[in-house]
Amino acid sequence: DAAEKLVERYEPEEEVRPGGDGALWEEERFKASLLKFGAANAGSKQEEFDLLLDEKIDFVQAFQMSGTNEEQARELSAAEKKKMSIEETRKSLPVYAFREAFIEAVRDHQVLIIEGETGSGKTTQLPQFLYEAGFCEGNKRIGCTQPRRVAAMSVAARVAEEVGTKLGSTVGYSIRFEDCTSEKTMIKYMTDGMLLREFLNEPDLSSYSVMMIDEAHERTLHTDILFGLVKDIARFRKDMKLLISSATLDAEKFSTFFDDAPIFRIPGRRFPVDIYYTKAPEADYLDAAMVSVLQIHLTQPLPGDILVFLTGQEEIETVMESLIERTKQLAGKVKELIILPIYANLPSDMQAKIFEPTPPNARKVILATNIAETSVTIDGICYVIDPGFSKQNSFDARSGVEHLHVVTISKAAANQRAGRAGRTGPGKCFRLYTSWAYQNELEDQPIPEIQRVNLGNVVLMLKSLGIHDLVHFDFLDAPPQETLVIALEQLYALGALNHRGELTKLGRRMAEFPCDPCMSKMIIASEKYGCSEEIVTIASMLSVNAAVFYRPKAMVIHADSARKGFWSPAGDHVTLMNVYNKWKETDFNMQWCMENFVQHRTMKKARDVRDQLMALLERVEIEPKSSEDSIAIRKAITAGYFYNCSKLDNSGHYKTVKHKHTVQPHPNSCLFEETPRWVVYYELVFTSKEFMREMVQIEPLWLLEVAPHYYKQRELEDATNKKMPKQKGKSKAELA
Ligand code: CDP
Ligand code: MG
Repeated sequence: DAAEKLVERYEPEEEVRPGGDGALWEEERFKASLLKFGAANAGSKQEEFDLLLDEKIDFVQAFQMSGTNEEQARELSAAEKKKMSIEETRKSLPVYAFREAFIEAVRDHQVLIIEGETGSGKTTQLPQFLYEAGFCEGNKRIGCTQPRRVAAMSVAARVAEEVGTKLGSTVGYSIRFEDCTSEKTMIKYMTDGMLLREFLNEPDLSSYSVMMIDEAHERTLHTDILFGLVKDIARFRKDMKLLISSATLDAEKFSTFFDDAPIFRIPGRRFPVDIYYTKAPEADYLDAAMVSVLQIHLTQPLPGDILVFLTGQEEIETVMESLIERTKQLAGKVKELIILPIYANLPSDMQAKIFEPTPPNARKVILATNIAETSVTIDGICYVIDPGFSKQNSFDARSGVEHLHVVTISKAAANQRAGRAGRTGPGKCFRLYTSWAYQNELEDQPIPEIQRVNLGNVVLMLKSLGIHDLVHFDFLDAPPQETLVIALEQLYALGALNHRGELTKLGRRMAEFPCDPCMSKMIIASEKYGCSEEIVTIASMLSVNAAVFYRPKAMVIHADSARKGFWSPAGDHVTLMNVYNKWKETDFNMQWCMENFVQHRTMKKARDVRDQLMALLERVEIEPKSSEDSIAIRKAITAGYFYNCSKLDNSGHYKTVKHKHTVQPHPNSCLFEETPRWVVYYELVFTSKEFMREMVQIEPLWLLEVAPHYYKQRELEDATNKKMPKQKGKSKAELA
């Protein structure tokens, strides 16, 4: 029955795309790339090249499993996996065969572009190969950047295990607000944003012998900026090796950018993946995804895990809940289904679970954001369910509004996702969109982040690095002129730049903080208002970017009333501060958190962040001072976030003051019912509407005090703070 439904919903792809042609190895492509590498290495000895080629062909033959059918191939790989030691696992990765050739290539060339399919072992193996080959002599490090925090952490953990040391000793990682490295660290994984920050302290990266800019195809903002910076460094630090590695076919573009650096291609080991499309567009893709998981589980052979791509934590939690519900009903009747989430803010002990092998007679289903597209590789996936969406941040230069949107993915991303099903055996990919939509509605490539986000942060960073002329900065793809101008204007309004566009003393201090310019400004403004302790607490609570409260279904009333106990009429920032301070009064007690429906994990994280921000405060010579004056605290917040100011108009709607953009108070805000006339918010989130998350009530005259360049008296007309009459009787008082 379920099998029929699966067939009913999907239709197979008509023509078979590359990778789906049944060849276990793309031998032709592989040979061509090898020749190409040979050509790129023209001048290297012919015998060596021949030797290399022979070795490769043996390797191909060793791995060809021709004659085995799908089931056998899978059993084989599952059984093999189980008894494989770490050493054997390393040797089984496609990059292993290229170990010597790779080391040789790095010796011969200063800059190398590396292209290899996801999961071939670039991230975990290449830094190790170089470490083993002595590239850390003279106590220099090998650095490797990752666009995502989770990837940096999980890869470092894996490599530490492979090297046989504790994480943080020979192998470590560094992400914002979390440094897990030591003097001994030789292989350092870090987010691309962290490497950018390292430039501030070490502009020539002199402690590194090798820098690998990994997952270059992701084209995150920070990675794009790094391209320009490391290219420059490579020119005057001839002893530093530079590797740019990417999963997809952008290698030529990178090569051109890096002065025609040679391309080292690692052929992927890719099993065929059959692609299926839905016959009609899906009205509810979450439901469709969930139903597909169950249908696959009921009809398809074991082993074979399922990977579902969703857009974010909320979706993952929704699907998880309903899957748990449904499988409960089927308990005993079907094999076990282990449901695991993976997304950026997932605590690291939970992340580790997805890498644990699936027990026999069970199936794993992993609910992931596009983090599992390329940066995190999970073995054993045979089925991919792809609804075709991801969350993307974008910046509307006209309204000055930045938001996260759910967008359709690109063809390149769809193919990456499908590829995840064919790593350990032949696989199937179920696309929750039609074949027509794939052909006609998906863009070929995603737009690089640098062309769609607010650049305030990186402009401040580049200015602090002494890069004054941004228009002529060596961008792989330049950002729109308009966004650059807006970033400069905003930094000017914040006081970080002067009218000539030069960094001010304030700007220099702001750049010390690993935060957005608004937050850095707020922190520095706390000096003037004598409330640095409170503001740093608020900044930490905002920075953890994870839920502070939890709301178990069975105890909604208790949870809500506990939450309301922390509310402040001044607004959400002050509420967050109250939570932290109350927790601190209990000497950071865990029991207290449970009783108050506060997430202990989030609080611990906030405490770590706070410690680090306090240390940075000392660096910029701001004395810790405490104040109970809510006005002082809110003025400091306004000094940082004055762009994010909105005002309730006579019709009862909030509009941003500068651009008259309509926004709504978030239902979780403690000011949701209060609706003060003037508010400053932390950020906008777009779900069904544009919501202001974390708001504080302010007085309009403060805007003139904190941002005289930005606001003029006449914009603040009607500067009364009277409450407006409600449009609809939603307030509790009226309902009562
Ligand atoms: O970087 P690339 O996509 O080429 O591959 P990788 O991330 O180095 O992954 C190589 C292998 O290491 C894969 O088979 C992964 O499953 C495994 N791995 C792991 O077991 N645990 C991790 N945290 C990361 C990778
Ligand atoms: Mg990788």
